[in-house]
Amino acid sequence: MKTFPFIYNQPKEFLNFLQPKEWADFFLGELNPRFSVTTTKAKVIDIKEETADAKTFVLKPNWLWKGFLSGQHVPVTVEIAGRRVTRFYSLSSHPNEKYLQITVKRQKGGLVSNFLNQNTKKGDVLDLGEASGEFVLSKELPKELLLLAGGSGITPIHSILKDLQALNYNGKVTLLYFVRSVDDIILKSSIDLIEKNNQWLTVQYILSDVPKEGFVSGFLTKEILDQYVPNLKSTSVYVCGPSPMQTKALSLLEGLPVKSELFLLPGQNLTNVKKEGTVDVYLSLSHKTIQVKGERSILDELEEQGIYPQSGCRMGICHTCVCKKQAGAVTDLSNGEKSQLGEENIQICVSRAESNLELEL
Ligand code: FES
Repeated sequence: MKTFPFIYNQPKEFLNFLQPKEWADFFLGELNPRFSVTTTKAKVIDIKEETADAKTFVLKPNWLWKGFLSGQHVPVTVEIAGRRVTRFYSLSSHPNEKYLQITVKRQKGGLVSNFLNQNTKKGDVLDLGEASGEFVLSKELPKELLLLAGGSGITPIHSILKDLQALNYNGKVTLLYFVRSVDDIILKSSIDLIEKNNQWLTVQYILSDVPKEGFVSGFLTKEILDQYVPNLKSTSVYVCGPSPMQTKALSLLEGLPVKSELFLLPGQNLTNVKKEGTVDVYLSLSHKTIQVKGERSILDELEEQGIYPQSGCRMGICHTCVCKKQAGAVTDLSNGEKSQLGEENIQICVSRAESNLELEL
């Protein structure tokens, strides 16, 4: 006992010290890169071109995958130039399907969306986290549903349409899908097929920038809503798209039951408040002081200066970016509220610097 007190007296700690899971992961990974006892990994078994700048990745997950609900998103982690980067993508497939699908549109300046579209090939393995999100159908299905999608915001809505089909829904669904041009319509053949096979669904593609014969042109307006959804007042609404569309939809639909999922483009904030001058941000763990403009989220401004704290969804959902603010004030961009000056945890992806700050980073 005296010779090996650590082993005998603290067997649990000793086992942890040996890191059996990490060793198991190492050996399993040598057998098959998808195998792991700690991480949900998925092999890319197919890639489909949806549009010139969007691809669907068909994924075979390992045994740690716990499933998902239609409309939920999943964190996807890739290694880019030695740095592990995570982004959230909605699952475009249905939970009953054998394989998972995420559909990723390249975003200007989007690190992971560009990496996946350019570099990922069949056979590659991606790290996934658990699916999450509240953008799902309620247990009691509404009689009338309006689905508003913008750009790549169609992906969770596509999964929801498949879910309604699987549930033998017999109400009435209108999908208004806003895109720049007909060439930007993602998952079109699948959406058209669901519409063809289900009388409850009416799909209207609405082109905002490049008109085409046979297609409706326009933007999200009250007139468009009145035209396609005469019973708007008794309709449940799901909205998924970029923030300008989201804001517009929420203002037009005030007072109605609306579920929304926001897609932020890189560098885009929930509110655009401009601030003069710069503020000092002291990073207490790395003993660095940097100047930021306080124009965008702290996360965006740190990354611009080559500092990459942990992040995930970049829209205030996953809490991956939470860090301790030790001093100073920030504005929460999701609700416009200004914080106190004292110590508190903040989500740096949706916080803008209001004053000099001290962060535990
Ligand atoms: S990165 Fe997800 S909450 Fe900030």
